[in-house]
Amino acid sequence: MRLLVTGGAGYIGSHFVSAARRRGLEDITVVDDLSTGLRRRVPAEVPLHEIDLSRDSSVPELTALLRDRGIDVVVHFAAKKVVGDSVVQPEEYFRANIGSTVNLLTAMRAADVDSMVFSSSAAVYGEPEATVVYEDTPTAPINPYGQSKLVSELSLENAARAWGLRAVALRYFNVAGAESAQLADTTTTNLMPAIRDVITRGDRLSVFGSDYDTVDGTCVRDYVHVVDLAEAHLAALPAVTRDAPARTLAYNVGTGQGSSVLEIVEAFRSYPGITLDYDLCPRRPGDPGALTADVSRIAEDLGWTSRHSREDIVASVVDFAPLAD
Ligand code: WQD
Repeated sequence: MRLLVTGGAGYIGSHFVSAARRRGLEDITVVDDLSTGLRRRVPAEVPLHEIDLSRDSSVPELTALLRDRGIDVVVHFAAKKVVGDSVVQPEEYFRANIGSTVNLLTAMRAADVDSMVFSSSAAVYGEPEATVVYEDTPTAPINPYGQSKLVSELSLENAARAWGLRAVALRYFNVAGAESAQLADTTTTNLMPAIRDVITRGDRLSVFGSDYDTVDGTCVRDYVHVVDLAEAHLAALPAVTRDAPARTLAYNVGTGQGSSVLEIVEAFRSYPGITLDYDLCPRRPGDPGALTADVSRIAEDLGWTSRHSREDIVASVVDFAPLAD
């Protein structure tokens, strides 16, 4: 099977490339604009093409690449992912995330490549009523990032109807951890990288909100190890290959277990040698109190379940602080 991986120089995309190679899938091509991706995350043996998918001018080059490499499946990670930035720069997020998906689909149709696994997000659900989220929970994104992921999913559905695309959209809950310092997440906006950054700097963590209707008043999320997430994409490949019907299916990717911010803090504090102090601060706008995935559908259909525990995730965050760029 020949794979094209967009965003393969990114935190999650590079973990997928690593998992695919471990699984014996050697014929991999990476496309990345290196705006946030790092060349050092891509193994030397894997061809890396520096292409900005959000530019319409990338379509001819992408079409030729898909044809020349005889690509069977596209795994599409390339996107901007910082929710706060998307609120400030909505046009940039729509151009980057929706534009890249539309350009990619245009090139795939021209090159007769009709299989995709897509990196979507729990952000498509917005602030659901219930704390446990199912795939048929109404999608009502509350920020441009979540909207861009939902519109991208709709683009896949349109392509399935119009020209037979077979796609799986994986709706990530809270991804964290790393398999190595080389591949670790270099951003510091999400909770776990923020904690790692605070520990490194000997600073204090700001806990956003302590008056939610949860076990201890702080927000509950479903944290999934990035290696498990990468393997979920491998589990999705058979669902988009030649003998599968043309359609788009969405699956939640999480553990099914929720952890509050203070439970995560305690998990870090339990790690030998770690000291972590925090301040209880006002809520962060747009944060739902609790979000946990129901992950029964992906287990039934694709045979995937998460394997790593919360403690495994925390240990990997502490053990594998990202290399300095
Ligand atoms: C988690 C909790 C914060 C930092 C993320 C991505 C989104 C999607 C889902 C991929 C919240 C609290 C955080 C800090 C804190 N993933 N927090 N202090 O908002 O659930 O969404 O995962 O598509 O793109 O953004 O994740 O890690 O930002 O926040 O108290 O310094 O940690 O308030 O309750 P979030 P997060």
